[in-house]
Amino acid sequence: MIMKNFWFSYQNILRRELLKKNYFTFFRKIFGCIYKFVTRFLRHKFSINSVNLDKIDKKDFSKLSLDNLFINFNCDKGSYFFYGKEKIFSHNYSIFYKKYLNFLKDKKFKLLELGSHEGKSLASFYFYYPRAIMIGANINPFQMKYQSKRITELFVDVSSEESLTSLSNHLDNELDVIIDDASHNLRDIIIAFSILFKKLKKGGIYIIEDINQFEVFKNLNPYVNELTPLEILKSIQEKKDFESSFLDEETKKYLINNINDIKIEQGSMIMKKKNISDIVFIFKR
Ligand SMILES: C[S@@+](CC[C@H](N)C(=O)[O-])C[C@H]1O[C@@H](n2cnc3c(N)ncnc32)[C@H](O)[C@@H]1O
Repeated sequence: MIMKNFWFSYQNILRRELLKKNYFTFFRKIFGCIYKFVTRFLRHKFSINSVNLDKIDKKDFSKLSLDNLFINFNCDKGSYFFYGKEKIFSHNYSIFYKKYLNFLKDKKFKLLELGSHEGKSLASFYFYYPRAIMIGANINPFQMKYQSKRITELFVDVSSEESLTSLSNHLDNELDVIIDDASHNLRDIIIAFSILFKKLKKGGIYIIEDINQFEVFKNLNPYVNELTPLEILKSIQEKKDFESSFLDEETKKYLINNINDIKIEQGSMIMKKKNISDIVFIFKR
């Protein structure tokens, strides 16, 4: 399985460079990826710069609240995290994860996180949802600092429909929960949602974090006159027609017919005097 997943990531990383016509990077990555895989494998085997969660004494963590787990792993989903020595008050999303996902607490379920980075949130979820099987997908899948039999890391580039479709085809089982915490770019959020929402089980939940962050980081929305993901979701909720360059008619119909409910919430992180912690939970029929 490790080899199958590595091969998936490796092929897709190389295909992405070819599609972008980055031929030099393509050849560099042929060797670079193998080197990264071998060093990552050795790092994991000997736990160098990485932590094997399966070997940690669970007693220390099993009683912690989700927020305390986020704080422990220095994840910005918590009420605060440290950037160097600076304490930063952050998204404070645990309230909403508890509100909407608590029914999964002791269940076996499958979660995919887009934008898994070092795996801080997956490590927190590992202890909070002790039977969850998790997949972390990232543009650099070799960043993960936490390992476990319950965690898989894969490559995805959420700005590429081709890469998202390839990820969707690779994931054979249907998913219970998908979290998008990747690029936060307006178009990427919409195309990832349009492709991966179909991968959710009936009754599954698709979560989009920081869904309006591009209002503060303008480079994440270089598009003119495009509906935002929230505007699209509100139109679906209110059963109003809408236009988006990033959704075809068939996908629009699929979303309208398969979204059961949408809950929009707001966490606490302030940047440039604006709250950047809008989070949405989308429930599949
Ligand atoms: C905010 S961090 C995620 C933090 C992590 N989810 C956590 O809670 O600890 C965003 C991650 O998305 C990744 N990312 C950025 N652009 C991406 C893209 N186009 N496709 C996939 N991942 C991307 C970044 O490399 C980074 O690791």
